[in-house]
Amino acid sequence: MSPPPHAHAVHLPLGPASYDILIGPGLLAELPDVLAARCPAARYAIVSDSAVAPLHGERLLGRLKERAEAFLVSFPAGEWNKTRDTWSALTDKLLAGGLGRDGAVIALGGGVVGDLAGFVAATYLRGIPYVQAPTSLLAMIDSSIGGKTGVDTPHGKNLVGAFHQPRAVVADVDTLATLPPLHIASGVAEALKHGAIADADYFAATAAASGAIMLRDRAALLDLVRRSVEIKAAVVAVDERERGARARLNFGHTVAHALESVSGYELIHGEAVAIGMVAEADLGERLGVTEPGTASAIADALTSFGLPTNTGAALDVNRAADAVTHDKKNRREAVRFAFIRQIGDSARSSDGSWTVTVNEHHLRDLFRRVSTQ
Ligand SMILES: NC(=O)c1ccc[n+]([C@@H]2O[C@H](COP(=O)([O-])OP(=O)(O)OC[C@H]3O[C@@H](n4cnc5c(N)ncnc54)[C@H](O)[C@@H]3O)[C@@H](O)[C@H]2O)c1
Ligand SMILES: [Zn+2]
Repeated sequence: MSPPPHAHAVHLPLGPASYDILIGPGLLAELPDVLAARCPAARYAIVSDSAVAPLHGERLLGRLKERAEAFLVSFPAGEWNKTRDTWSALTDKLLAGGLGRDGAVIALGGGVVGDLAGFVAATYLRGIPYVQAPTSLLAMIDSSIGGKTGVDTPHGKNLVGAFHQPRAVVADVDTLATLPPLHIASGVAEALKHGAIADADYFAATAAASGAIMLRDRAALLDLVRRSVEIKAAVVAVDERERGARARLNFGHTVAHALESVSGYELIHGEAVAIGMVAEADLGERLGVTEPGTASAIADALTSFGLPTNTGAALDVNRAADAVTHDKKNRREAVRFAFIRQIGDSARSSDGSWTVTVNEHHLRDLFRRVSTQ
């Protein structure tokens, strides 16, 4: 299958579930062709949220209806709506819209839409195909790739879900023109994470391009998205179900998830990841895993995008430490961190795993220091 003209394709090899991530300007206009080739269906349900549907959804629906049967459903934007209630409301709308087993879902929006619509597709009539059309930077470089879908619960984030790989990911970088600057910066935090775990040159180039990226320069965004997608896809390709190497992607995230939870999600994900990367690099340095100076180099890069490097105020250390031990990624109570050795290089522990056990003392110490780094 050849990609549309102007599109750059990154292949994600997962056997029969393999697919391409197509990246380029103006790609939503080509979506009907992409769907016909890669996800043919009798009817399409575009799932979006209340912010993205009016900006990009209506136009996409108009184009798609020229070629196929389609309808658009949306839910109120915001992480707090990534719930089983919204999943239930969406599945009811698809049933009312007459979507059958020969139908397919298009997830048009940020990571919240992608995770919810993907979970709807994974469960609707026991699973129907779907395509990810990410419109936030974070969704383009991270959440739309790899097939993790799900919803949050009062017990924590992403605790109910399924692995369900899309048939294609179509990242139209022109949609980023309407994305608020805070969310551009939030996506960049994940891009810098990709550089930090796998590609020092990319890390440096991203930091150097901060001005152009924040101005949403098309060429700068294309470079950013392309390399990040390659890194994420390469990690997912060797570990689809997060049994080993995919844990590398959690650099900064053990701390980030705790900060998100303790802040009542006041911090958005990329901000929490930014603080988490600095805190985890700092702990890595003190444990002798991470090269000295790494935390401050990461902090400098984050600062050039206006991202935070500390919480600014002291934290409730007990609550934060509890949030880490309750995170589902920490098996059997042992707290494990995905450290880096230096920028561009994930650390591996002596047993060959991509995570290192951190004891209670160091965990508490980290949260005591996180307000000032
Ligand atoms: N499945 C995975 O592997 C994975 C990985 C990382 C993150 N995630 C999930 O992704 C979510 C975060 O994603 P996010 O940061 O994209 O949040 P989001 O989906 O809430 O999007 C952020 C905000 O931007 C708006 N928006 C999106 N695209 C826009 C556009 N082009 N123009 C204007 N507004 C736009 C949204 O409506 C929302 O208000 C979290 O729920 C997180 O758990 C999932
Ligand atoms: Zn993340």
